[in-house]
Amino acid sequence: MPGGSKLAVVGAGSVGTSLAYAALIRGSASSIALFDVNAPKAEAEALDLAHGSQFAAASATVAGGGDIAVTEGADVVVITAGAKQNPGQSRLDLAGTNVRILEQLMPQLLERAPDAVYVLVTNPCDVLTVAAQRISGLPPERIFSSGTVLDTSRLRWLLARRAGVSVTSVHASMVGEHGDTEFPLWSGATIGPVPIRDWTDGGGRVFTSENLAATARDVVQAAYKVIAGKGATNYAIGLSGARIVEALLRDDNAVLPVSTVLSGQYGISGVALSLPSVVGRGGVHRVLDTPMDGGELAALQVSADTLRNTMDTLGI
Ligand SMILES: NC(=O)c1ccc[n+]([C@@H]2O[C@H](COP(=O)([O-])OP(=O)(O)OC[C@H]3O[C@@H](n4cnc5c(N)ncnc54)[C@H](O)[C@@H]3O)[C@@H](O)[C@H]2O)c1
Repeated sequence: MPGGSKLAVVGAGSVGTSLAYAALIRGSASSIALFDVNAPKAEAEALDLAHGSQFAAASATVAGGGDIAVTEGADVVVITAGAKQNPGQSRLDLAGTNVRILEQLMPQLLERAPDAVYVLVTNPCDVLTVAAQRISGLPPERIFSSGTVLDTSRLRWLLARRAGVSVTSVHASMVGEHGDTEFPLWSGATIGPVPIRDWTDGGGRVFTSENLAATARDVVQAAYKVIAGKGATNYAIGLSGARIVEALLRDDNAVLPVSTVLSGQYGISGVALSLPSVVGRGGVHRVLDTPMDGGELAALQVSADTLRNTMDTLGI
């Protein structure tokens, strides 16, 4: 791995530990640090992870505890700390509490990891990205959120299952708010090189307007469904987060739908939402100018307006 590759995960709850576990198994970083205000939990989680390091893809050191100094010199800091979404609660309900946590955390983290790229996972991640960017004063490319990377993975899994192909052969993205107004970019979606609406099996077209709409609804509802059953979503976001960490540390220049504070793209400014973006060392290199049809452009504005309203309510 070129340059440094220390990952610091803030918050050793369901999401933070799953992310650290995924990063350890995948060999995403050479050093993984877990920080949580719950010191015994962070220490125990780090110890448990370290005990398995013999079986990781690449050798990595794991440390953890309740002293924020453990994040010292991190190249990537992933923030998962905060209150979590309870059954029936929307991500936006969490906003106020989590903004206050960031106000306290960001200055301390910047002191220890002044050169890091910061990735917000805590919800509502789009709103928190704007708050964290303002608190930190970092350029938007160095502080962004996992956004709809997870939702895109959910979308591709559903489409791959229906088409009978591997997930990696599906090229489709969820964009907008990581939340209820997110939507898929069907106009550019393909399976291999085949536009999604032209995909056929022996009996004709597989993807109708109706089942595409139902798939989009399933993606939006996915988190609620998992939370209703097990109280949290953690494995898929852990894997999604580890993938983003790798893109940063390995300078992959991977196209991922992360959420950055926009400055005029699609006429949107001062709001963070997800759009396919190039992610490599140093952060988000470019938010792509992705073609969208009229309906998609309108849906993007609805997402931006929803987020702007929440920010106004919170005084961000
Ligand atoms: N963006 C996404 O795609 C996505 C997906 C799943 C969950 N999430 C979000 O991730 C967050 C974490 O979820 P979880 O299930 O891990 O919750 P959790 O309650 O299991 O863990 C949160 C952890 O944060 C810690 N914490 C609280 N304040 C802290 C502080 N000031 N400093 C350090 N640690 C602190 C808590 O002690 C706890 O261990 C939630 O906001 C959740 O909604 C986001």
